[in-house]
Amino acid sequence: MKDIDYLKKYLKEENLEEAIKRLEKGEPVQYIVGEVDFFGNIIKVNKNVLIPRFETEELVYKTIEYIKKYFKKSIKIVDLGTGSGCIAITLKKKLPNSIVHAVDIYKEALEVAKYNARINNVNINFYLGDMLEPLTDKYDCIISNPPYIAHDEEVMDIVKNNEPHVALYANDNGLENYKKILKNANKYLNDKYLIAFEIGATQANEVFKLAKRYFPNDSIIIEKDMQNRDRFIFITNIKSFLSNKL
Ligand SMILES: C[S@@+](CC[C@H](N)C(=O)[O-])C[C@H]1O[C@@H](n2cnc3c(N)ncnc32)[C@H](O)[C@@H]1O
Repeated sequence: MKDIDYLKKYLKEENLEEAIKRLEKGEPVQYIVGEVDFFGNIIKVNKNVLIPRFETEELVYKTIEYIKKYFKKSIKIVDLGTGSGCIAITLKKKLPNSIVHAVDIYKEALEVAKYNARINNVNINFYLGDMLEPLTDKYDCIISNPPYIAHDEEVMDIVKNNEPHVALYANDNGLENYKKILKNANKYLNDKYLIAFEIGATQANEVFKLAKRYFPNDSIIIEKDMQNRDRFIFITNIKSFLSNKL
């Protein structure tokens, strides 16, 4: 849908003029409207959170399918770098018997996630902190769409000028957060587990190597998004996983 049509669909006539001015100044239509549809759920967004992407809907879809296939009914999940809360909220809605925790390092983002959990009527435990660091539990599933853009990578102006840099960029060629999570994940995982990551389209080899370093005996599966780009990596010790790919 064209941006103008999007505004017309979501805003009242009297707010359109102001909204169009903001659009012309280069603001993303989702911030102007103030919400997006993520997997059929209304997720409020503002400049403190990343605008949820279609690829992330795919990550959530795939993860739900895997959880339904390989785990018992009630599992414990943590979403690292929750931002708007779109991943955690959708998981809790689709897997209502699960316990869902979510972490973000940015207080203002966590406020948005908490608000979104409230309006979506789901109960999620939120933690402020650096990836796994604030947690004390063990989980069956760790899921994350962390910041993964390298500082010298070309980024579209509309993204760079509007979305929070804490949600976009990561040190170490964009790999910092994968390394941080994988290095420490072992002590936060139950006996049988699944780690699900969204990755940058050029990062599959590097993230695969990291996964191999910290989880040498596991199945590590890279999957493509709908644009046919490497976009997801799943790491698991479930033995039947590889032969049962989606
Ligand atoms: C790419 S955004 C993803 C947001 C949301 N999960 C999504 O998929 O739309 C990454 C999020 O990670 C948070 N973040 C960045 N560094 C972090 C860290 N060290 N620990 C926890 N969260 C972090 C950012 O504030 C941001 O909300």
